Formats: sequence, structure tokens, C-alpha cells
Amino acid sequence: MTFAEKICQVAEEGVVLLKNEDRVVPFSKEDSVAVFGRCQFEYYRSGMGSGGSVHVSYTTNLTDSLLELCASHKALAGVDTKLAKTYRDWLQKNPFDNGGGGWAAEPWSQKEMPLSDSVVLESAKNHSKAIFVIGRTAGEDKDNKAEKGSWYLSDGERSALEKICSAFENVCVVLNVSNIMDMEWIFDSAFKGHIKSVLVSWQGGQEGGRAIARILCGCAYPSGKLSDTIARHVDSYPSAKNFGNDGNVFYQEDIYVGYRYFSTFAPEEVRFPFGFGLSYTTFSVETQKASFKDDSVFVQVNVKNTGTHAGKEVVQVYVEAPQGVLGKPRRVLAAFAKTSELAAGSCEVLNLEFKLSDFASYDDSGATGNKSCFVLEEGLYKIFVGTDVQNAEQISVDGKAGIELEKLKVVQTLSEASSPSVPFKRIKPGSLLGEKYSLLEEDVPLSKINLAERIQKNLPKEIPFTGDKGIRFKDVINDRSKLNDFIAQIDKTELAAMIRGEGMMSQKVTVGIAAAYGGITQKLRDFGIPAAGCSDGPSGIRLDTGKEANLMPIGTLLACTWNPKIIEELYTFEGKELVQYEIDTLLGPGVNIHRSPLNGRNFEYYSEDPLLSGFMAISALRGLNRAGASGTIKHFAANSQEAFRRSQNSVVSERALREIYLKAFERAVKSGEVKSLMTSYNAINGHWSASNFDLVTTILRNEWGYSGLVMTDWWATMNDCVLGGSDTLKNTASLIRSGNDVYMVVDNDGAEKNCYGDNTLSSLEAGTLSLGELQNAARNILNFILDAPVSKRPLRPLKIFKSFTTALTKMPTDGKIAKEGEAFLPEGGVFYLQAEHDAMYNISGTYSKDGDDLSQSVSNIMIDGAQAASLECRSTAGIETTVNAAQVHLEKGFYKISLEHTMPGIKVKQIIISSEVITPVSLGVISI
Ligand code: BGC
Repeated sequence: MTFAEKICQVAEEGVVLLKNEDRVVPFSKEDSVAVFGRCQFEYYRSGMGSGGSVHVSYTTNLTDSLLELCASHKALAGVDTKLAKTYRDWLQKNPFDNGGGGWAAEPWSQKEMPLSDSVVLESAKNHSKAIFVIGRTAGEDKDNKAEKGSWYLSDGERSALEKICSAFENVCVVLNVSNIMDMEWIFDSAFKGHIKSVLVSWQGGQEGGRAIARILCGCAYPSGKLSDTIARHVDSYPSAKNFGNDGNVFYQEDIYVGYRYFSTFAPEEVRFPFGFGLSYTTFSVETQKASFKDDSVFVQVNVKNTGTHAGKEVVQVYVEAPQGVLGKPRRVLAAFAKTSELAAGSCEVLNLEFKLSDFASYDDSGATGNKSCFVLEEGLYKIFVGTDVQNAEQISVDGKAGIELEKLKVVQTLSEASSPSVPFKRIKPGSLLGEKYSLLEEDVPLSKINLAERIQKNLPKEIPFTGDKGIRFKDVINDRSKLNDFIAQIDKTELAAMIRGEGMMSQKVTVGIAAAYGGITQKLRDFGIPAAGCSDGPSGIRLDTGKEANLMPIGTLLACTWNPKIIEELYTFEGKELVQYEIDTLLGPGVNIHRSPLNGRNFEYYSEDPLLSGFMAISALRGLNRAGASGTIKHFAANSQEAFRRSQNSVVSERALREIYLKAFERAVKSGEVKSLMTSYNAINGHWSASNFDLVTTILRNEWGYSGLVMTDWWATMNDCVLGGSDTLKNTASLIRSGNDVYMVVDNDGAEKNCYGDNTLSSLEAGTLSLGELQNAARNILNFILDAPVSKRPLRPLKIFKSFTTALTKMPTDGKIAKEGEAFLPEGGVFYLQAEHDAMYNISGTYSKDGDDLSQSVSNIMIDGAQAASLECRSTAGIETTVNAAQVHLEKGFYKISLEHTMPGIKVKQIIISSEVITPVSLGVISI
């Protein structure tokens, strides 16, 4: 199987069928279909921002894929090609609005083609079924909004759907979306009950169009299950009151996120439950055995395909713990398993197992008498088995009603960490009234720990500085026990440089990726340390040079497969592609919890449930590791909204952190598959994640035993790791002290000169940071590199210089000519540089960029069509900035210069290419 075929298979498996009356889908060979909606051609393959910026060589769309299936498999009698042409013509005149192309500028949806009665009626005369495709996007720096065209249908979509439903009795709606959206319209009488089938096909990467076409035609079948609850109203979600604001964002819903909330307090608010998804067939699910021994719950279930079509079913096991004094959700997902493909009539026995203690509750108040412990309170633990959270029956365990614990059991004793210091109230179940609990509020326990003392006690021993003893990094590759002796040789200035990652578009690694780190100065390189490279992520490799890579489906789709095995297979392909591109780690998977359906980056994350998210992350990481690469799990933690992402403070109870927001990270870390982790932009309980000691050291490193690398998010800010207070990007001392290792990112070639003026060295001098702490960070970086693909390749020179030998020797007559050293702007025509010598040339550029501080874009300077240098542009707040972008070797002659992949928003003012008195000794050279 190829990577593309695997992408298609996964994209099919994540499709969730919400409704299918009269078996409108799959289409039969006799069906002829009419496809409406612009997204039939303009397929949304991913969301926006860093996670959606893979350059693909193609994207499949629905209509072309249906036509292909018609021709190759005779899967359909026909597709309305006249209608398709009407859409194509209209799209030419009404092109996709990318909002100008800038960062986070694209609207959530596009204008729909207005439908005239005659177009629809004519189509309905000759076609038995209609498909209407609805598209939505969102992404980094842009949450969805409870507005038409985002959460709600747009007026254009509504009116198109009304027309379609008036003319067609059998309408199938396909949702090509990055996030869940309002679904109430399905039941709207304006559509006459003609919306018979609804499929959420998400955004399936480059193969998504083909995948949904194959499902509709019955060449594949849906087996996806929702990874989030679809509620009746956007305000039904318990985070609604506290979402999207700046400053303190109070997590008042506490552990009651998604179905945990709905099953406990508001089952009537659910439109489509968590775990729900139909199939083209039917299944019976029978529990054969259930037992409990030594903390393990074992459930055996027989699944039979009782219908007429092949399919797969997902069996889900939920626990209801006794309310006790802490209060519990009525349902918590404890295990799941998916069958293999079951032909009609066939069966499979699934064995599901979990540890009851994994679903213990964290007592952050001491109410049980066991403060800071995970406890199983006494009482009856009921177990439910089914195919979604609402459709799960209570089963008996060892012939009893459930698992009865006669007394409270302390499962784990921890120390208070990362708790809030701002008072607020959280929700809690009161008394059971029929099917739901009344809702009470209680004060959230506040922090009592002395962070300064805790940090002092944790200070590592320093390795005495030895100066250069001749140990080189390759010696450590051969014998890791030499690592401390190796570090002892590196002086504090070089160590301080090592914790600064450089990017984006560093020339020290594969150009076009997010950062280079490790051996990024000449002195570090002289010790033999290579530079590791990381790229976005999570759905494919982002290369801002425009180089192509494969694009996988979005995280939410992956979670909806409920199939960890297939995710591991998919990410094994991804890992191979990373190794081929000489990239060490993918910046993903993202495992933040879907706290609100409006979070713009939900598409990069998996689910509202930490167990499902954790399993998916482990599978992705395992696949990447298996291929010899790795992943960087992100964004640690409680990064639940894009609005004010760098300034908001998630105020959240320690219980909710530990049971919900950290849980998927914990599972992944404890699986042993995590080698690299990225902290988030936001603060948690007053401490920015990048400098949050309790988060990174107390919990991640000391409790979970994590010994891998930790990096910040790009241009993150830190505040004082003890006192909190305001944040800055200079406080690397607090970053290191908190247990973080790499600051991402300083400018290219900025590490050595400390271009942001960070306080690592001044804090060492002042005694507020110890050499041992700095050495610890370096050790984590070097340990990562030791296992990374870069250590298996020959050490390359610090920078690779491109050598262009394709010069025209005669003066060209078809464009303007700039002399070397002369400022020019290669726009609006053909431009040549006249290189007067065979020499090294320095390319510098002057540009400005408006917009949000974290907005990313790039402009590539091309020589004879090949990328030679890049102006990596984050916002300069409109101020003109000049950077040395690269050095290249040019022979004497004339070279065509152009700017490519320039994102709107960047204003390039001028380029200067001038010869330098650099002799290319010891330089890595590749010829173009
Ligand atoms: C995002 C990260 C991403 C990084 C590098 C940041 O803006 O939050 O998820 O990996 O940029 O592109």
C-alpha cells in the first residue's frame, strides 16, 4: 500500500454517518446523482495555520472522484455533469475567497452559488438523488464563532438546501468540516424531511474527496464514531460561558467536559452522542463475560453483523463511579475496541480490558481525607457496554451489579501541583433527579504550596566545567555514558546558545521547516553536535520552500476512526517521509482536549475525551518512532482556544487538570513513545506553560518519569517561575528552571548573538540560575539528538551553501538587470542579477509585515527557479527589517531572480545580492 492509499483508507474510516433514512446511501448502480455546493470542487483538505500548511501535489474532490468511480467501477449510473459544469463556470467567476491569503485571514466558509428553480428542477428530473456539500474551516489564531457561516448554516447554504429539498426527495448532506457545527437544521421542517442522509467526512487530507466518494458509492463503508458530543445548541456546552476571553479564563465546568457533562447534567441537550456513528449494516453487541480481578476489569463482547453490508463496529465500555464526596460524571470512557471488517452474518469476539484505578478521581480538596491523592471512593462501580455513550447498557460483573468497593482505595499519592490561586467556583453534581443530577457549585481549592522551596529542593548537581578534553559527539554516539563528560567541556556561553532554537527557514537543517536546534553555532558544531530539525505537523510535513509532502486527514477525523492500529500504520508512512526529508521530529500530534466546539484548532486535536485522545497520540507516535523519526506532542497544556492564545490564563482546578487536560499527555508519556514535547502559549493558573515548574518538572518529569526533550511553542513568553507576574520572551532563566529545554525560536543565526537579549547568562551571573540546570537542559537536547535520525547521518557543515552554475553568459534581453550590490525588487516582470565574479554572494532582503505577532509567513528568493534564500517573516509590526537571508555560490553570469510563495501581508521592499570575500573552504556545497 502507498502512503496515499493509506491516507484514503483512513479518511474513509473516519467518516461518521449521522443519519441514513431509506438507505439513501450507499448509492446503487442505478442511481444518478446531482452534486450541489461549491466544496464539491473546492474540497477543504485541512484547517488553517501551521497545522494546515502542507504543500500537496494534488487534492481529490468529490465530483471528480464520483465521475472516476462511475467510469472505472460503474458504481453509479451517472453524475449530473451539466450541473457540475454550471458550478465550475460559476466558480471561475466567484473564486475562492482566501481573505487575501494572509495568516488567519480566510473566512470560515465561502459564498454558495445561488440556485435558480429551473437549475434544480431540471437536475431533479434526471437524477434520483442529490448531494449537498457543506464546507467549514477554522484554524490557528482563528476560533469558530457562533455565527452564520461558521457554527450555523449561512443564508446561502440554507437557501440552496431549501431549493434542493423542494425538488429532490432524497438528499444526502456531506459535511467537509474542520470542527463540529450546528446540526439542528437537519430537523428543520423547511427541508421537508428530505435530508435523509448526513455524513461528516471532516477534512481528509489530499485523499479526502476520493474517500467520501468511495463511501457514498459503497466502494467503502462508514465506520467512524463521533469523538465529540454534538449538542442541540452552541450554548449547551458547559464551557460556553467562559470561552474566548482574554485574561483569566475560568474552567468552571471542571471535569465535566463534553459527554461527561451531558450524561451527568443535561442528557436532553444531546443531539448526537459521543461515540455515535451509523453503518451501512447493523450489529448486535452482546456481552459474554465480565470479571474483575486485581484492579483489572475484563469484558468479552460478541459482535455480529446482522445486516446485509460489510462493516466494522466499535464497542465502548463506560464506567460510572459512585458519587462519593467528590462527585463523578455519570459516564467515563474506560475502553474501546473496533472489530475487523465483518461480512454480513459474521461475528467477532472482542476482549476489552482496563484498570479500574486508571479511572480514579483526584482529591484536590482533601474532602475524602486524602488530599492530593487519586482515590477510588467506596461504593458500586457500574460498567456499561455499548456503541455510544447513550446507547450503552449496564452489564453485570462476576454476576453482580458492578464492582463493589467496600472502602475507599488510595490509588496514588501525589503532591499538590499547578493548582489555582484565583478563587472561583466549579460545578458539581447534587442529587439525582430521574436521569440527571442537579447542578451545585463549590469553591475550587486554592494553591497552598511553596514553589520557591520546591524549586530549591529540586536543583540538580552541576558538572564541573572541564574545558575541551577532546571528547566529540560521535564518541557519545558510540558510548552514551560519556555524555556528562562531554557536557562538562562546553562553556556556559555555548550552553546558553544551545537552548535557543533558530528558525523558521533555518539553512542549518532542511530548509523550509520550523526550527533548527542543538548544534547551531560553529563552536557547538566543532564539538560534533549536529543540528536537529523539526517541522509542522501534525497532518504532514510543512515545507515553506513550497516543496511537496503528503497531507493526512485532520486529528478529529483520525480520532473518529477509533482505530489505533490504522493510525499507527498511517504515521509509519509519515515517519518515513520525515526521514527522507532529513527531519527529526514532526510537531504533532496535538492532544489538547476539545473543551469547546468553537476552538479553531480542534481540527488538530482529537476529542473531548482524554482516553481516546491518548490512544490516538500513542499510535501516531509509535508509527513515527517505528519509522525512525519522532513526534513532538503538543500543546502542553490547557490550550483550549485561539483567541488571546498567548495572553490568556487558564484558571483550572488541579483535579480537572489531572483528570482531563493532562491525562492524554500522561498516557502518551507513560507509554514510553514520547521523546519530545511542546509547551503551550497560554498560562495555567498564573504561570505561563513555558516557565511552569509544576507542569514541566513536578508533574511531567518527576511524577510521570519523562526524560525527553521539552520545547516551547514559537516565540512563547515566560514569566517568573516562582512569582508569576507578567510575561516576556526574554525570561529563559525561568524556562530552564521550570524544566523546559529549548526556547523556540530566535532569529536565524540569532542564537550565538542572543538576538532577543534573553537572561540565561545574566541569571547565571546573578545566581538565580545554576549551571547544573543549564546543563540539564543541554543533556535533554543532546539525548534527543542522540536518538534522532540526524545522528545516523554524516555530520554536515553548519550551513550548506547552494552553488548555482546555470548562469547565462550572454546578457539577456527579456528583463531588467540588477548589478551585484544594487537594490532591486523582482516583481512585475523578469529580473536578472548580473554576477560579476565567480564568488560567494550574500543575499539580503528588506521587508515589513503587519499583523499579529505570532503570524507566520515566508517569502522565498528564487535563483533560476530554485529556492536560494528565504525571508522568514513573523510580524514586524509594520517596521522595515533587513535580514541576511543566505549565502550562495554563483559563477560569473546572469541569473533569473524571482520571489515565490510570498504570503500576502509581507511587503518585500528590496533585495540586495552582493559578492562577499568568503572563500568556500569547509563549506558544504550543493550544486544546483
Ligand atoms: C503553533 C505550533 C507550531 C509552531 C511552528 C505555532 O504558532 O502554535 O503548533 O508547531 O507555530 O509552526
